[in-house]
Amino acid sequence: MIQQTLILIKPDGVKRGLIGEILKRFEQRGLKIIALKMVQPTKSLAGQHYSESIAEKHGPAVRNYLLDYVTSGPIIAIAVQGADAITIVRKIVGSTYPGESAIGTIRGDYAHASKEYAKKNNQGQNLVHASENEEDAKKELALWFSIDEIHDYKRSDEEYIL
Ligand SMILES: Nc1ncnc2c1ncn2[C@@H]1O[C@H](COP(=O)(O)OP(=O)(O)OP(=O)(O)O)[C@@H](O)[C@H]1O
Ligand SMILES: [Mg+2]
Repeated sequence: MIQQTLILIKPDGVKRGLIGEILKRFEQRGLKIIALKMVQPTKSLAGQHYSESIAEKHGPAVRNYLLDYVTSGPIIAIAVQGADAITIVRKIVGSTYPGESAIGTIRGDYAHASKEYAKKNNQGQNLVHASENEEDAKKELALWFSIDEIHDYKRSDEEYIL
């Protein structure tokens, strides 16, 4: 199924000069970039993105940490489209804690802190966010992009990748 999903290059990815490297991973896999911008997120925007459900999942301290983290500098918001894009993008990104992320994934190639380290130090820098499912993708795309910021065009290699 052709899907659209949201990717954020978090402040650590921007500050470490990894924008090009991260974007390349999605682009070379054949995902079509349909929106792209740099944003300094406000606390309000970050709070809508990482809603109360994050506090239910990880505890309120992690949510507070996350809101500080994602507002600590500019981020790159990206919308991509492609066959099964939501799952494929999550696979390219790798699992939540870089110490457990497979080599070849973004988190597995550019970070290494473990889950234990994240929990002990309240440190969750993992370079990228990617929508988890269709419902979240729809909500998050609408949060970060207006309709007129999302573009439709044909990639020249679509006959080989779709
Ligand atoms: N114990 C922790 N301490 C600090 N930060 C954490 C911790 N656990 C998770 N995080 C941060 O919270 C984010 C959201 O957690 P979630 O469970 O949604 O993981 P994810 O879906 O892999 O990540 P994301 O939603 O950012 O794509 C993680 O990406 C990470 O940055
Ligand atoms: Mg998540």
